Amino acid sequence: VNPFFVDTFGRKHDYLRISLTERCNLRCFYCMPEEGIELSPEGKILTNEEVVRLARLFVKNGVNKIRLTGGEPTVRKEELNGLKSIGLKSIAMTSNGLALHRRLPQMIENGLSHLNLSLDTLDPFKFELITRRRGHEAVLKAIDVALGSSLSSVKLNVVVVKGLNDAEVVDFVKLTKDQPLSVRFVEFMPFTGNKWDQAKMVPSADLLSRIQAEYPSATRDLDEPNETARTWKIPGFRGSFGFISSMSDHFCSSCNRLRLTADGQIKVCLFDPSEISLRDIMRQGASDDQILQTIQKALSGKKEKHAGMNDIDVKTNRPMILIDRPYKSR
Ligand code: GTP
Ligand code: 5AD
Ligand code: SF4
Repeated sequence: VNPFFVDTFGRKHDYLRISLTERCNLRCFYCMPEEGIELSPEGKILTNEEVVRLARLFVKNGVNKIRLTGGEPTVRKEELNGLKSIGLKSIAMTSNGLALHRRLPQMIENGLSHLNLSLDTLDPFKFELITRRRGHEAVLKAIDVALGSSLSSVKLNVVVVKGLNDAEVVDFVKLTKDQPLSVRFVEFMPFTGNKWDQAKMVPSADLLSRIQAEYPSATRDLDEPNETARTWKIPGFRGSFGFISSMSDHFCSSCNRLRLTADGQIKVCLFDPSEISLRDIMRQGASDDQILQTIQKALSGKKEKHAGMNDIDVKTNRPMILIDRPYKSR
């Protein structure tokens, strides 16, 4: 058995995204269907012990970066504290920031090193429109708290939707002048129930021209290996900005990601509806070797790419809230 997670296209998977909960304290329209989602019963969600057991196994086989996601990871009740000493290069989290100020110090204590926050608008009214909840101020505060902490990096994800927030891109870029913040404009992606429509997408190239009209000196920056964003910098600015063009210019050929859903399914691609339960075999007493074989079997079915919208069947996939992300619970 190959000690590393390599798929049939030769991609080495060293990045695991673990969803800690399906719950969320916001209800963003692009992340969940309007009618809501059915939450798994608590007993079906992986326990801390199970998460840590799997994390160790992944690390033993080449994973060096874990990102904690949700739902909204900060709404999980029990603190996850077993990841710090298992040999990871980085422990990251993607959060909506709403409840972050309460949890951040303990999370840093537990090894959190990188944080991505989601904020799609600088306008409190639009925030409510997008998230169907209040909380704009709390997120702005979370950004400040995060920037003032010992975290190695703080990024801001802005999902851009035409006619809704695309006029704000230059304002977001302005935030990077005095703050070491990396703002990333994310293309709106289709998921079950999110009313995705090509017409709501703004190609990254358009956003870039608007930014360049304001800042002609903007230059292309170096990207890290397996980086999802194409990064730009304005001379003299402390931060940077970038584009995650999952739809118009996908990055599947350098994909290094595996996902573990909160209910313990392994998902080898964001857009792949096939899932295999690691929870069930673990609870039936599987050995580490058996779990490893199951992961490798899942990985062997990974397709070359899924971000090309023609081959995405959004109806059989989960909504984003149940894969990966903050937003929505009942
Ligand atoms: P870094 O590790 O900091 O680069 O973060 P990330 O971009 O991998 O993760 P984050 O949770 O911040 O996600 C930001 C955006 O990246 C999401 O809104 C998605 O649009 C996109 N994204 C994340 N993972 C995947 C993936 O596996 N496939 C595709 N196509 N897009 C993804
Ligand atoms: N398209 C693009 N990004 C999305 N996210 C959630 N749903 C979508 C979507 N339909 C983003 C969140 C978060 C990241 C993990 O995924 O805003 O920043
Ligand atoms: Fe990887 Fe699938 Fe995302 Fe492409 S769409 S980058 S293959 S997880």
